[in-house]
Amino acid sequence: MPAALLNEIPPPSAPLRLAAPVKVAIAGATGAVGREMITCLEKRRFPVAALRLFASQRSAGRTLAYRGETLTVEPLTEAALQGQDLVLFATDAATSRRFAPVAAASGAVVIDNSSAFRMDPAAALVVPEANGHALDGHGGIIANPNCCAAIAVLALAPLHRAAGLRRVIASTYQAASGAGAEAMAELLDSTSAYLNGRPYRPKALAHPYAFNLFSHDSAIDPDTGSNDEELKIVQELQRLLDAPDLRVGVTCVRVPVLRAHAIALTVELDQPLTPENALALLACSPGLKLAHDVAANRFPMPSEAAGRDEVLVGRVRRDPGDPSGRTLMLFLAGDQLLKGAALNAVQIAERLLDGWR
Ligand SMILES: NC(=O)c1ccc[n+]([C@@H]2O[C@H](COP(=O)([O-])OP(=O)(O)OC[C@H]3O[C@@H](n4cnc5c(N)ncnc54)[C@H](OP(=O)(O)O)[C@@H]3O)[C@@H](O)[C@H]2O)c1
Repeated sequence: MPAALLNEIPPPSAPLRLAAPVKVAIAGATGAVGREMITCLEKRRFPVAALRLFASQRSAGRTLAYRGETLTVEPLTEAALQGQDLVLFATDAATSRRFAPVAAASGAVVIDNSSAFRMDPAAALVVPEANGHALDGHGGIIANPNCCAAIAVLALAPLHRAAGLRRVIASTYQAASGAGAEAMAELLDSTSAYLNGRPYRPKALAHPYAFNLFSHDSAIDPDTGSNDEELKIVQELQRLLDAPDLRVGVTCVRVPVLRAHAIALTVELDQPLTPENALALLACSPGLKLAHDVAANRFPMPSEAAGRDEVLVGRVRRDPGDPSGRTLMLFLAGDQLLKGAALNAVQIAERLLDGWR
């Protein structure tokens, strides 16, 4: 983490809780996550006093619907951020780094979806079901984790509490929506071009996407050989689980799925745990829904996770490579635009509402 970040987050200048009704702004409202935020606020009947929508200058004047109203998108400026109670950021890290401290200094609670503040000790990194206590005395800026970390931690946190995690190996199968609205359009357009025998030059992603998959498109760290997405997931899982020494290895792959990520997990535990007991534990863990029908060979699928609030979990089984019984394997599918981003942000805001139980 760059040391300078510590100075960029101002000390909280307002109460760190929210009183209904709340003046809400969304920065990055036109993007894949921002548009889901609008829907989450509406569906969950978040007590919004007024909603303002911001994006880049390119989108100024566009309109988006909210609760039957037509709202006009405004360009994001420092002045426009003044006077809000809550600002949800769904912008790239550089934009969040520039504007989130401004919103926080003006007295708003900020919840940021980018990677800008996730590893900054002055900002809380929160998935409410896993570490909601981290919101206590938060510093004004709260970070939403990487989408795969948010999805995985829903299963890892209860396993960690029950049997202690020693080591986690994760392989991700990440959808187009994880790379934003442009990548979703690219999957549709390049598939159509492929099926119609037309040439297609990738624009949003580096490689041909139709009927293909490739190593995650974030930059490779030459020292470790890991890409940026893999490094983020390792660090953020350690932080979310409050387990800085947890051994985590991750391989991230982009697959030609429009929406919802899948993750294969292998977890080595301190204590043996049978697959039956693990299933029973995961079945009653918040945010998860079992998809484990062995007879029908039916397990979590992105097509069934897309648009759902819960993360699907199943294929829980013993790792045949570890006769001690301390290693389990499981499979998850979760809508990363929801639990991995917009929904998690709104759930954090709900926890900060006065009177939240
Ligand atoms: N997609 C996911 O599943 C996911 C999951 C977790 C976290 N995240 C993170 O969430 C953030 C948003 O991701 P996304 O997938 O929604 O991206 P996206 O679809 O590309 O949307 C980006 C948004 O940011 C706005 N923006 C870009 N530059 C701006 C600027 N200079 N000033 C103001 N607004 C600006 C864009 O406005 P215009 O429309 O005007 O360009 C758009 O509204 C990213 O940091 C991403 O890493 C994404």
